[in-house]
Amino acid sequence: MTQKTHKVLKQAKSRALIDSDTYHDWYKQSVKNPEKFWGKHGKRIDWFKPYTKVKNTSFTGKVSIKWFEDGLTNVSYNCIDRHLKTRGDQTAIIWEGDNPYDDRKITYNELYDQVCRLANVLKSNGVRKGDRVTIYMPMIPEAAYAMLACTRIGAIHSIVFGGFSPDALAGRIVDCESTFVITADEGLRGGKKIPLKHNTDQAVAIAGRSDVVVKKVLVVQRTAGKVDWFDSRDIWYHEAVARAKPDCPPAKMKAEDPLFILYTSGSTGKPKGVLHTTGGYLVYVSMTHQYVFDYHDGDIYWCTADVGWVTGHSYIVYGPLANGATTLMFEGVPNYPSPSRFWDVIDKHQVNIFYTAPTAIRALMGAGDAHVTKTSRKSLRTLGSVGEPINPEAWEWYYNVVGEKKCPVVDTWWQTETGGIMITPLPGATDLKPGSATTPFFGIQPQLVDNDGDVLEGTAEGNLCITDSWPGQMRTVYGDHERFIQTYFSTYKGKYFTGDGCRRDADGYYWITGRVDDVINVSGHRMGTAEVESALVSHDAVSEAAVVGYPHDMKGQGIYCYVTLMEGATGGDELRKDLVRHVRNEIGPIASPDKIQFSPGLPKTRSGKIMRRILRKIAEDDFAALGDTSTLADPTVVTDLIDNRQNKK
Ligand code: PRX
Repeated sequence: MTQKTHKVLKQAKSRALIDSDTYHDWYKQSVKNPEKFWGKHGKRIDWFKPYTKVKNTSFTGKVSIKWFEDGLTNVSYNCIDRHLKTRGDQTAIIWEGDNPYDDRKITYNELYDQVCRLANVLKSNGVRKGDRVTIYMPMIPEAAYAMLACTRIGAIHSIVFGGFSPDALAGRIVDCESTFVITADEGLRGGKKIPLKHNTDQAVAIAGRSDVVVKKVLVVQRTAGKVDWFDSRDIWYHEAVARAKPDCPPAKMKAEDPLFILYTSGSTGKPKGVLHTTGGYLVYVSMTHQYVFDYHDGDIYWCTADVGWVTGHSYIVYGPLANGATTLMFEGVPNYPSPSRFWDVIDKHQVNIFYTAPTAIRALMGAGDAHVTKTSRKSLRTLGSVGEPINPEAWEWYYNVVGEKKCPVVDTWWQTETGGIMITPLPGATDLKPGSATTPFFGIQPQLVDNDGDVLEGTAEGNLCITDSWPGQMRTVYGDHERFIQTYFSTYKGKYFTGDGCRRDADGYYWITGRVDDVINVSGHRMGTAEVESALVSHDAVSEAAVVGYPHDMKGQGIYCYVTLMEGATGGDELRKDLVRHVRNEIGPIASPDKIQFSPGLPKTRSGKIMRRILRKIAEDDFAALGDTSTLADPTVVTDLIDNRQNKK
């Protein structure tokens, strides 16, 4: 496909907060003198005590990242209280239920009331500053209240995506020793119920075996479905909140006090607790939200992510609310009750800014244009994409059919670790190239290096690093700072290594090519192949497993599993089904294997290391280019793997 450039749209330019000259000017200032730049923009949030120090960061040695360190602030105060005088009656959250007839609008005044009451419930149940609160919830306003109530009293929240299994939830409860859980009776997505309370009961029991005793479980009544109840531990949310006082002073938090932990997958071991802190994070997400989406006062903004992922944290809740926006929260799925759902919701609530994932765009493109064109979408002004590389075909469809060539598409590259958007177009400033995340946001200094760590200049392809800190950056891996240093700063000394491959073109545009480590991205959900492998080998019939990603039309990447069975076990479709079921139970439905190949042997070097390069090629059905296999302990396994591959084109 020939590469196309879409010039900045006139209508985007005429109203934009940042034009091309301003972008270049600010960008230069931001990297030349970060202290001055962020010292100025740090004031976009309110501080109880202003900071005098701006940046104190080092990517070498023990790696220490501090921003605005002597300032005092509070996130819930910035997201609620400071707006009350001017926009108390403005809608803060539009909630659109799974059922299209189910919706709610919550004003900033109501948000204040709900968050204060819940903060008081947390306090009266013994939750204190620094305590970890696990949130395992559907996409209902109470999830946002829960986050904000934690920040109000300085508790650290750890949200676990509602699609994770009891085992995965338990692992996350244990890792951060969280003794308070907020959940709902059941979730509702696409007309299907998800037994959140039941899963929580199981997870609490599993956590108990590791000596982490969950003392209280606060339960929102969402469906009124039947649940088991433990009187000494379980509390109904609606009863407790009704009894609580409607005011709760915001705790004065240091800028570097922890705000939240969010578990994410890496190439090895169990998921890491990514820790974000208070001041720098809020400055960064509010600023990116405003400029990347060209957000103006009064805009209706919708990000379709789940609060269980970082996109939900930064761009459903914290960024938009810090900016006094109206943010839409959607409980359902893109194709229920029909593939017009997104576009219907846009018309119903007159959405101006819409932010979603390539996997959803591809699925809706597949459903046919008629589902889109029968809706108006007149209110739309800016479209966004996040989570995985967007293929130019899907980009063009999004731009031409959904946006009718009137809305810039901002393809935003970032990560759980980066807290906010890093490489992205700005609607009124950046010419767009479909498939490219384009250019860095203010203060972000990307660098490409080869495998030896040598810096690549100009047009090049290599490993993407960031050379200096930005305020939204993660500060540590919760409870394991050494792992933080090892994972992100040891591959290329003195640089933050993203784990992504990337190409820079002659215009200085960045094109993310995908992960270069053993992390895969399935429908925008990030997963470690090692996690799926360890789920597989915990099945009685499995002796060894190797998992790789392969290109998948809809999901971006699919999960391809090579499984070696125990003596006496026989592979077949029944066992395949059982293994899928097993992985779903261990991790959750998002980790369901797409292909399982029973393989008596795996390609290993003489020292026993599995050669994943070969497995990836076979999974891609591209075995003509296997490269050198002569170093394998037993080169004949490759023939067997090719003969029995599950992906013949
Ligand atoms: O590989 C990149 C991909 O998603 C990874 C980060 O995943 P996660 O921490 O779950 O955060 C997702 C939401 C921010 C990255 O390392 N990724 C994310 N956005 C893009 C992307 N790849 C290409 N283009 C993007 N716009």
